[in-house]
Formats: sequence, structure tokens, C-alpha cells
Amino acid sequence: MVLQTKYVEVKDQSLFIDNVNALSLVEKYGTPLYVMSEGHIRHQFNELKTLFLDKYDNVLPLFASKSFSCLQIYKIAKEYGVGIDCVSAGEISIALKAGFDPHKIYFHGNNKTISEIEYAIQNDVDHFVIDNFYEIECVEKIALKYNKTIFATVRVVPGIKAGGHGYIQTGHKDTKFGFSARHGVYLDAIQKIIDTQCIEFEGIHCHIGSQVFDLYAYVNAMQRFVKFAYEIYDKLGVMVTKINAGGGYGIAYTQNDEPLDFETITSEIMRTIEEGYAKRGWDMPMVLIEPGRYVVGNAGVTLYTVGAIKSIPGVRTYVSVDGGMTDNIRTALYDADYDGIIVNKAEEEKTTQVTISGKICESADILIKEIKIAKPEPGDIFAQFSTGAYHYSMSSNYNQITKPAVVFTYQGKEKLVIRRQTFEDLTYFDEENEY
Ligand code: LLP
Repeated sequence: MVLQTKYVEVKDQSLFIDNVNALSLVEKYGTPLYVMSEGHIRHQFNELKTLFLDKYDNVLPLFASKSFSCLQIYKIAKEYGVGIDCVSAGEISIALKAGFDPHKIYFHGNNKTISEIEYAIQNDVDHFVIDNFYEIECVEKIALKYNKTIFATVRVVPGIKAGGHGYIQTGHKDTKFGFSARHGVYLDAIQKIIDTQCIEFEGIHCHIGSQVFDLYAYVNAMQRFVKFAYEIYDKLGVMVTKINAGGGYGIAYTQNDEPLDFETITSEIMRTIEEGYAKRGWDMPMVLIEPGRYVVGNAGVTLYTVGAIKSIPGVRTYVSVDGGMTDNIRTALYDADYDGIIVNKAEEEKTTQVTISGKICESADILIKEIKIAKPEPGDIFAQFSTGAYHYSMSSNYNQITKPAVVFTYQGKEKLVIRRQTFEDLTYFDEENEY
């Protein structure tokens, strides 16, 4: 079986993540359990560094931390010299707690609240990806109050449809994000920024969508962005000195997925911008990218214990595990596909076609719609692969299910990074007040 990363491998009748036996992790930490291969995460961060940050002048890769946000990930990111994309004051607070340089944090989001803007500015976060007219007013007021200068990239919707599912497409006309390129709306936004005293216009930001496999979508987006840069210069007299090309690089969840190569995407992005700028005799702008899933997606393995098995003759066999849509909402939400194996039968023949379901009180609580596995029995340990991005970060306590622990593995060792929630945690925020 070919797994999506060399850090996760089947050998000696079991599954190993960074050479740590998954069954020993189950014995120590129980299930469900999120396991993250730090080996894979470091490998990916190293690609951002060597194949982008060190390869080109005046670039910065950002890690889109909504894909997996916790203290440990920001600490690792810091080591590679990358910046981060934060989408809430909560994410910023964790990044700062991890010691991240606030000047390398880019604050995104389509409805940053006043208190979030205030929190960011008070804490020296000075790069904002400006999303709407109301935000310009709020940022201006708050920056003036604290006597700070904010550097703005303006999110422009290029009018491109790309991405794995309708819910994760962001580059087309009908989106809540950013300023439309139609009717010159983005030009009005940039003029408004130029007219402020404390927001400095630097450039434009693009994110076409997530789980993208189409190289041409990136090239096309950048061609349009070069045209926007021309237009901004011609109509407003300012140079675009920064282009953020966004993230969205697709990864392989199953063997049907054919991800693009990181170097191919980034070199096409750079080439397209370079050619466009050269036509005007301009120097390259600073270029940013911001992948999230690409860094952490294939690092994750979720380990579950098999419980009830229900066969409906002629229909399907449900194999229920001790987690579900509370730790993985992606199948229910995006119809996502996954691969997996029974760990304690890792090298047995896959003879049984099943549906992996969870224990949540919802019919949509499916983890894998169709998969062939070794004959399942209660007590087996099932591993679901490629669960590193948007799993822990989108987890919930629905049905008062406690969130699983997160364990990182690296070079044959393991460490607990987030402890399993307890019943105590479930009532931690409950108050017993009188009227
Ligand atoms: N930049 C911006 C502005 C974004 O909105 C996103 C993701 C990224 C970068 C990173 O995208 P990535 O490289 O991770 O694809 N929960 C969904 C994905 C939502 C993505 C939201 N924005 C999923 O599980 O597929």
C-alpha cells in the first residue's frame, strides 16, 4: 500500500508514524487519538524554506494556521523563518504565546471585529489583509488611537472558480470574501486606503480556493493580478509592491488524487508575475504564498477503536468507531474521501467493503463512505489517513464528546502536545448563577 507520506508506513504487521508503532500509542493514550508526524510537518516547512524562501529574493511563505493551530505548530513554524496567516484574534493570541514575531503575522478575515482589530494592533500585528470597506474604517480609527501604521494588502476576488468542493471555493463572483474586481470596486477600496493617514497600501491578495489541483487556475489568477497591478498604477498612481498569491495547494487523500508539485506551483506563480512586471519594466514585487493543508494535511493519522458493526444485506456494512464528525467534520461537510486501514491487521488482505461511521447522533456522521479493509471486528484499531488539516482545528464537543488528545511523533519518539479533554472540561465554562 502506498501511503501519502514516507513518514507513515506499514511494516512488521502494524502502522508506524515516524517509526513509532501506532499500537503502542493506542496503549499509552487511548482512542480516538490524533497523531501528527512532526517528521512530515518539518519536511513540508523545509520545502517552504528551501524551495521558496531561500530560492527567491523578497518572498515570504506564510503558514495558513487555521488548518492546524496550537502552540507547538507555531513554535515549529518559527524555526523555518516563515510567517503566518491568522484569521482571528484567538489564533493570534496562540501564535504570540508561542513567541511568534507579531510583524510576521498577517491578519486575515472577512469580518474582523473591532475588539479583534484592537487586540491585534495593541500587540504590534501590523500586516492586515483588508477585506471590506467597513474594515478600512475600523482599522483606521484604531490605528490612529494607538498611533500605529498598518500595512495593507487588499483582498481582490479574481473571478476564478477553483477548489475541491463548492464550500471551499473563494475566487468566484459570489463570495463573501474580498473586493470584487468587477466595476473597479477594488480600486475604490485602495483609494480609500490611500486617503487614510495610518494605513499604508502595499499590495493585493488572492486566494482562489482550497484543495486545488489545477495549475492553470494559479497562472490565470496571477495573470489577472498583474493586470490589476497595471490598473492600480494607471488609475491611482501607486505601485503594487506586494502580491500575496494565497494557498489552496491540494494534497492526496486517496490514490485518485494527483497533487501538483510545490515547486511547479510556486515557480509558475513567480514566472507569471515576473513576466507581467517585466513588460512594464518594473522590479518584482514581494511575493507571498500561504498554504495550510499542504504543510500539515498528510502528517495526520487518526486512530479509532472499532465498536458496533451493522451489516444490511444488499445495502452496506457500517463499521462504527469511537469518534466521528466531532473530530472529523470534513466527510459530512465536503463529501471528502479518505483512505485507512485496520492497524492490527495491517498486512492482511482487504476483503471487506464497508462504510466507516462514527458514534455521533447524526446520519451524516460518516468518516469514510466506501473503503475495502481487512475483515473488521470490535476492538480492532482503525487508522484514518491524511487527517492533519482542518480536523483538530474544526473539532467540536457535539453530543458532549470529549476532544481527542494530539500526539506528535518525531524520529522514533512521541510526545503529548494537546491532552485529551475530560468530563471536567465539558462543564468548565458552565456557571451556576441565580437570576
Ligand atoms: N489563505 C486564505 C485566505 C484562506 O482562506 C485559506 C483557507 C488558506 C490560505 C489556506 O488554504 P489551504 O492551503 O489550507 O487549502 N476547512 C476546509 C478548508 C477551508 C479553507 C479556508 N481557507 C477543508 O477542510 O477542506
